[in-house]
Amino acid sequence: MTSSPHFAIAIDGPAASGKSTLAHQLATRLGLVMVNSGAMYRAVTWQVLQQNIDPHDSAAVLNLLAALDIQCGDDGLSSTITINGHDPGDALRSEAVNANVSIIAAIPQVRDILVALQRDYLTRTNVVMEGRDIGSVVFPNTPYKIYVHADEHVRAARRSDMGEIDSVAQRDAADSKRATAPLMIASGATVLDNSHHSIEGSVTAALAILKQQGLPL
Ligand code: DC
Repeated sequence: MTSSPHFAIAIDGPAASGKSTLAHQLATRLGLVMVNSGAMYRAVTWQVLQQNIDPHDSAAVLNLLAALDIQCGDDGLSSTITINGHDPGDALRSEAVNANVSIIAAIPQVRDILVALQRDYLTRTNVVMEGRDIGSVVFPNTPYKIYVHADEHVRAARRSDMGEIDSVAQRDAADSKRATAPLMIASGATVLDNSHHSIEGSVTAALAILKQQGLPL
């Protein structure tokens, strides 16, 4: 990981904090690939539910995972994912996936497999990767780390504006309390409070942070 010629900008934060929008904007402006690591946990969850497997049955989840062909790539701007040749598309954001993804993401062996796929991006390209443990676990050595904070009521409103049913507070509690790679402010990360920023304001603040962290801009 350390010998890679490529670099990663890590964007972590809770659900609906605006990190995807920020990561997309940064990727576009800086010419990097935006990687949505949550989509990987969502894709596995989607398959688990498709196969009628109980998400709490870790052994059954891992058996399924061993048989899955997960292909992570990019279209030049954003990450792409297929599972057994299928692009799950909008199914990744269904109420059922929202309600179960934190259970799947708490299984350490699931994380090992998906973290390896996340790190693999750096063998190919420079990335802005967003998630929960990107600065703490996936790329702990990157100097470029932002933790995006937004007030809980702002985040809940954002989700319902998107037409999604998603108990963000419940999901954040599960993601923060799990034993393996919990949501946290990584060592060296700068917190960006996104509660009252416009998209442009958030991008401006992030670019200032990255410059201060040494990114040549
Ligand atoms: O970013 P998101 O809301 O789409 O992520 C969905 C879930 O995936 C989130 O509730 C926790 C999990 N996740 C994770 O554990 N680690 C990551 N790096 C990204 C997401």
